[in-house]
Amino acid sequence: MKITLSHITKQFAQTTAVSDFTAEIESGHLIALLGPSGCGKSTMLNMISGILPVTSGQILFDDNDVTDLSANRRGVGLVFQNYALYPHMTVMQNICFPLELQKVAKAERMERAMAMAKLVHVEELIDRKPSQLSGGQQQRVAIARALVKNPNVLLLDEPLSNLDARLRIEMREEIRRIQQETKITTIFVTHDQEEAMSISDKIVLMKLGVLQQMDVPQNLYDSPANCFVADFLGNPPINKTTGVVKDGGIQLDNGPLVHDDRFTNLKDGQRVTLSIRAEAATVTNENGNVDCVVDTTYIMGKESLAYVKLGDQRIRIYIPADHEFGEGSTLHLKLGKRGVFVFDETSGDRLI
Ligand SMILES: Nc1ncnc2c1ncn2[C@@H]1O[C@H](COP(=O)(O)OP(=O)(O)OP(=O)(O)O)[C@@H](O)[C@H]1O
Ligand SMILES: [Mg+2]
Repeated sequence: MKITLSHITKQFAQTTAVSDFTAEIESGHLIALLGPSGCGKSTMLNMISGILPVTSGQILFDDNDVTDLSANRRGVGLVFQNYALYPHMTVMQNICFPLELQKVAKAERMERAMAMAKLVHVEELIDRKPSQLSGGQQQRVAIARALVKNPNVLLLDEPLSNLDARLRIEMREEIRRIQQETKITTIFVTHDQEEAMSISDKIVLMKLGVLQQMDVPQNLYDSPANCFVADFLGNPPINKTTGVVKDGGIQLDNGPLVHDDRFTNLKDGQRVTLSIRAEAATVTNENGNVDCVVDTTYIMGKESLAYVKLGDQRIRIYIPADHEFGEGSTLHLKLGKRGVFVFDETSGDRLI
């Protein structure tokens, strides 16, 4: 099922939670809806499910306009952060429940529920109550219950937030597996960029209700639309420095001039943010793009992470583990083809 969202806006009194949101989600894709707390992710998801009405805009499932359709007529499966299983029912009864509401005959109910229990790997646990399950197992049951109705679309709102770090990673891979086996169009809300990067076909990144960029994860990382996107993705976070365009380079504030062929077309006098991913700056023996002074280094096994100073500004770079650069050594830095971006300092728009 393809989902088309055109010019969706949601207004709550003074707050515009979602603003003029337009996106097309291909059939069979898993999309991560990503962004910081309060950016409108849940609001957007709830409008797609039909729990919340839109203020304006249109939602299509394939070619059908579902904008005014109630939640139970849209054919969506929902999974939330708190598993919301019925505590007095067994796993089997929980998974069967949506089919009971639909008055599906008992034999078929049991058969479909069992197929779902197998899909999410809880078939051994069907006689237990939710209180006898771990968080990860409860979330598997919640997914089975959402899928048993054969929904057109699966919507997950931070489904892994209550799980510990290891289980989160295991369960996100499980969600991807289940989604690929069923080929169901899925929207997965998260504020965790690594989670979004690792399992989605495309990421939709939002800020203050506004879509910033929608693309495959690698493109958001390699080709961010603006400074916010570059900051949001990547670990360690991208290095940010500020300066002004001068003599075909970037004169860093209280720091050196950074030369690069790419900078020659920038407008002299323009204030910019020069953002450099840690892996994009390497130490060279030749004349590099800029010199820096080593501040602190941390051994990390296969390489070291160094904090280096460009005048008053500090950035993180990787250096070889066998380096002999003490604090205060001067290094020549070469900027790579990937992971170096220039943004307008005020608007955050990408210039390079
Ligand atoms: N029912 C409501 N009434 C008024 N304002 C609301 C309502 N629901 C959400 N908002 C506001 O809309 C904005 C978006 O909220 P939303 O819950 O969609 O964010 P979110 O991205 O899901 O955040 P989180 O990651 O914390 O769950 C916030 O400013 C929030 O305060
Ligand atoms: Mg939310």
